[in-house]
Amino acid sequence: MHSLEKAVLSLQRELNISAKKKQSISAHFQREMIKGLTGRNSSLKMLPSYLTNPSGQETGTFLSLDLGGSNVRLYLLDLLGHGSFNIRETLAFPLKSACKNGVSYDYTAASVTGEELFDFIVSKLKNLISKEIPYSLGLTFSYPCKQIAIDQAVLLKWTKEIKTAEAVGKNIGEMLTAALRKQQVNNVTLKAIINDTVAAQVAGAYSQQHCRIASIIGTGHNSCYLENRRKYLAKAGIINIEAGNFNKLPFSLYDKKLDKLSVEPGTQLLEKMVSGKYLGELVRLILLRFSEEGLLFRKKISRLSITGVFSTPDMSTVLGDNTKELGNVSKLLFEKLGITNSTYEERLGVYMICQIVQKRSACLAATSYLSILEQIDGLSTPHVIAVDGSLYNKMPEYAEYLDEALVEGTRGKKGTVTVKPVKDGSALGAALAAAMQ
Ligand code: BGC
Repeated sequence: MHSLEKAVLSLQRELNISAKKKQSISAHFQREMIKGLTGRNSSLKMLPSYLTNPSGQETGTFLSLDLGGSNVRLYLLDLLGHGSFNIRETLAFPLKSACKNGVSYDYTAASVTGEELFDFIVSKLKNLISKEIPYSLGLTFSYPCKQIAIDQAVLLKWTKEIKTAEAVGKNIGEMLTAALRKQQVNNVTLKAIINDTVAAQVAGAYSQQHCRIASIIGTGHNSCYLENRRKYLAKAGIINIEAGNFNKLPFSLYDKKLDKLSVEPGTQLLEKMVSGKYLGELVRLILLRFSEEGLLFRKKISRLSITGVFSTPDMSTVLGDNTKELGNVSKLLFEKLGITNSTYEERLGVYMICQIVQKRSACLAATSYLSILEQIDGLSTPHVIAVDGSLYNKMPEYAEYLDEALVEGTRGKKGTVTVKPVKDGSALGAALAAAMQ
C-alpha cells in the first residue's frame, strides 16, 4: 500500500470515535451534567436561562441583536405566531475590519474595552431604528454568562478566541443599556439576554412545541435543553449546558497541539474538536505533519506553519469538490499554500483528511446530544433537536453525518431523534425572548 494511503488510514483509526469511546464519553458527559446541576465543580456549567419554551402565541415587532461571532447582526422582526415570522430589516457588520480606505479596527482585540465594543454596536444600531418608535430589544449573546435576571447577564469568560478587555465579570445588560443611553437612544429597552442555543431552542419550539433540546454547530459549539425535574430546578426552564467546555475526551496529538496554540489552553476542549473556529486549524496541523514527514507534497510546505492559513471554509471547498480530478482542491492548494504540482492522490489525501476531521466533529456532537437525551428520559420518547450554526448549515454533508451518528446511537432504544434545522434562530429567539417578558 502507498505510504500516504497508509498514513490516512492510521489517522482515521486515531480519530475514530469507537462504540467503546462513545460509551465512555456519554457516561462522563452525563455525570458532569449532574455535577453542574447540583452546584459541584464540573466542566459543564449548566447555566439557568430564566426562560422556558414559548406558547406559540407571541406576536409583535421586536429588535434583535445577535452578538456571538465575527459579525454582529441587527434585525427588525415581526412575530406572527405559531412559528411564523417576518424579517423586516437587517444590518450586519464585522467586529474586525482589515485596512479599508485607511480604516482598520478590531473590537475582538485585547487593546479594546467592552465599553468601546458596545459603543460601536450602538452607533450602528442607530442606523436601523427610527427616533420616534419605542422598541423592545432581545440580545442573543453567545458566550458563557451567569444570568441574574432575564435582562441581566454577567460574562463569565470569552470563548472563540475573543480577547476584548474589561468585559469578563461585567453585566452585559448594564453595558449595553449604558451605551444606548450615552448615545441618547432612549426609545430602545433591553428586555432579554439569551445564549444562541437558548435562542435556537425557543425558535424551534415556536413551531414545534415538543422541541426540548437545541444546539449550535457554528464558529462555536454548545447545547441547551429544557429541564423540568424539580430536584434540579425549582421551576421548569432552559439550561445552557456550555457543552463546548466538556473535557473528558480522547485527544489526539493534533488536538493537544491546537489547544496549546489557542488563546486559553485547557478550556473549551469539545468545542475545539467540533466547531468551525477550530476544524480548519486541525486540518492545517495534520497537513503540516504529513508534509514534514514527506507523505504529502514531497517536501515541507513552509506556509503550512502559519496559523489560520487553512480555514474551515477551505475545508468546505475541499469537501464540496465534485470535479473529476479534484480541480477545486488543486486551485485551493495553489492559492492558499503555493502548491503548483499536487498529484491526484495527494488531493484525495487532503479530501480524506478533511472528511475524517468533519466526521469526528459530527460524531462527537451526536454523542453529546444522545448523552443529554439519555439524561433527560433514558431516550424513551421521540425527540426533536433544533440545530443552527454555520458549520451545520454550510459544510457539505455535515448534516448527513450528524443524522447517521444519531441513528446509530438510537439503535435498540425506544426513543427516536429528529434534527430540526432552525433558520435565523438567533434573531427569532431573541425576539421571542423579548416578547415573553
Ligand atoms: C460559547 C457558547 C455558545 C457557543 C456557540 C461557545 O463558544 O461558549 O455560549 O453557545 O459558542 O456560539
